[in-house]
Amino acid sequence: MLGTGHQLGDDDVMDDERVAGPDLQAGEPAALRHLAAAAGGIGRPGVAAALRRWVADDTWVKRLLTARRWMSRAYFEARYFIPDPWRLATSLYEHRRFQASMDMLAGRRYGRALEVGCGEGIFTALLLDRCDHVVALDFSRLAVRRARRRFAGTPGVEVRSLDVRVADPGGAFDLVFCAELFYYMSRREFEDVAARMVRWVAPGGDLCLVHGTSVHDAGPRADGTGAIGEMSARVIHDRFCRVPGLSVIHDRRLPRYRLTLLRRLEAPRG
Ligand SMILES: C[S@@+](CC[C@H](N)C(=O)[O-])C[C@H]1O[C@@H](n2cnc3c(N)ncnc32)[C@H](O)[C@@H]1O
Repeated sequence: MLGTGHQLGDDDVMDDERVAGPDLQAGEPAALRHLAAAAGGIGRPGVAAALRRWVADDTWVKRLLTARRWMSRAYFEARYFIPDPWRLATSLYEHRRFQASMDMLAGRRYGRALEVGCGEGIFTALLLDRCDHVVALDFSRLAVRRARRRFAGTPGVEVRSLDVRVADPGGAFDLVFCAELFYYMSRREFEDVAARMVRWVAPGGDLCLVHGTSVHDAGPRADGTGAIGEMSARVIHDRFCRVPGLSVIHDRRLPRYRLTLLRRLEAPRG
């Protein structure tokens, strides 16, 4: 657990609060306040910033702006013009998600971990508590720059600039963690990255996926096909759960997001 005394239920955070919901307040658990302070402070954004975020997070705006490969990169780069665009450091919703993610990883310590789509490294700081070494990667140059600044001089973190649609991180990891990433890919890109991602997990290692359900589970069509931008937590997580070499350790479907922990089977001996 990240902290104690946090009593909100999963239904307490409404969809629009994802973008414009309450910030962490001084009365929140110490671990969360510490994180918020490290990432820029509590209660920072104003009305204009909240409005900009709301527009940029609208499902249709997102679909339009990420409809082509180059566009999705430009979209993220533009989002990072404002530091911490998803308010990961300060929003109550996001901290509940972080807490649920860390709970999912509880009970195991990892050697080498990979975080895909690490952004500015806000969740990376939590992963470090559970892992000896974290490779955190993202394709946004602004995000990578801020993450590198955040971890300058911190042993055990390596921040890399990499687009997983076009390159592999290299090597195998005891934990691959991937949250809120795949919605921004076409179905074809997703299938390609998913097939490669399974191979990034070392035998006996874990793959942890976290994706929001409230907006994205609207699509795609029942036959699994759909237009660009119609990826959903259901499609994403079900795809990985069907991989023969992975066993499902936990699959939590909360009202706002789904968290799945899969373990790659050990290679057969002899
Ligand atoms: C919605 S943010 C999620 C950030 C963080 N993982 C979280 O859970 O809050 C998606 C992140 O993935 C990164 N990203 C998106 N597509 C990517 C790709 N193809 N390769 C690497 N990073 C990517 C974006 O730059 C952004 O930082």
